[in-house]
Amino acid sequence: NHYAILMAGGIGSRFWPVSTSKYPKQFQDILGAGSTLIQTTFHRLAKLMPVENIIILTHKDYKETVKEQLPQVNDEQIVLEPEMRNTAPSILLGALKIKKKNKDALILVAPSDHWIQGDVAFQDNIEEAFKIVASEDKLITLGIEPTFPNTGYGYIKYEKDDAEGDKHVLRFTEKPSFKQAESFLEEGNYVWNAGIFIWSAAFILESFKKYHPETFRLFQKGNDVYNTEKEQEFLDENYHKTQSVSIDYAIMEKSDSVYVIPAKFKWNDLGTWKSLEDELPQDDQHNTMVNGRLLPLNSTGNIIKTHSNKVVVLDGLHDFVVVENDKILLITPKDNIQEIKAIREKVMAQF
Ligand code: GDD
Ligand code: MG
Repeated sequence: NHYAILMAGGIGSRFWPVSTSKYPKQFQDILGAGSTLIQTTFHRLAKLMPVENIIILTHKDYKETVKEQLPQVNDEQIVLEPEMRNTAPSILLGALKIKKKNKDALILVAPSDHWIQGDVAFQDNIEEAFKIVASEDKLITLGIEPTFPNTGYGYIKYEKDDAEGDKHVLRFTEKPSFKQAESFLEEGNYVWNAGIFIWSAAFILESFKKYHPETFRLFQKGNDVYNTEKEQEFLDENYHKTQSVSIDYAIMEKSDSVYVIPAKFKWNDLGTWKSLEDELPQDDQHNTMVNGRLLPLNSTGNIIKTHSNKVVVLDGLHDFVVVENDKILLITPKDNIQEIKAIREKVMAQF
């Protein structure tokens, strides 16, 4: 009775111009690993459950891309959202579909665009969580030891105790201000939310009913047609009516049944180009090259990803990001990396 909801509908705008709305980050080999992020994630999940128990939720524009990249998946396992409404509606829909198949289902919700090292440790963590939610009404998330006041994450304050296992979450704060994040780190007993959740289908649905009754009622109306050929028609007519909200704001910040298990694996959500420096080797000038070949002439601390394995010659360039797709080449100071979303929007407005 183990199932997974693989979240693959984001647009990964901070990895522009490599990640585009046509081929977002999850469908790209961001690290030059030889497979795309969604392929790596799918293989990791397939070790925990039968392949047919994994459903992939994505925007309908990505149907062909998902089928190409995951040929082992049936059409019925791919759920196509007609509009982008963030993660809460997708997870609710996924849970209703799974519950209809198996009322005792336990669900792992996994992002498709993260880097994880330590598959065995990951499996241990998930198995442990599945065991807990099989008998207890808990919403479990995995916690990552924070290293700096990153404002792009959910912050979890947990109850300090010496016991092993899951810890009660006292407060969940999604994407705090920089000041708040700083004070959380000073205070201690905070971890980052990895965005990987484990719960029973029954309990997450109960939580939606309690904290998002309107959204719950909207999707509940489709229950008769889920997992049938009429499902898409229902989604096309109704999906746009739902509020756009992430699971973190919709449920995790509100519920008092949230528990956290410290993650035992190495994790990186590949939030910006700069995160590549943590996971890839650097040359002796601290340049990070994903593919292609770099000839650095008095150039240090750059991050480079080429489109077609070019030789890149950098002369006297320090701490820049140099990245391209087949049409656009972006060169920006590494310190500007948080601004990529804004740069992307400015550029998109010109086309
Ligand atoms: N199906 C679907 N539909 N998937 C979506 C949608 C959508 O509308 N929007 C986003 N996703 C997918 C993304 O592709 C990603 O795999 C996952 O859902 C999470 O969405 P993000 O947009 O990447 O969330 P975030 O990074 O801002 O924040 C979340 O992750 C952090 C850790 O990486 C939160 O859960 C934070 O609390 C957490 O710290
Ligand atoms: Mg993310």
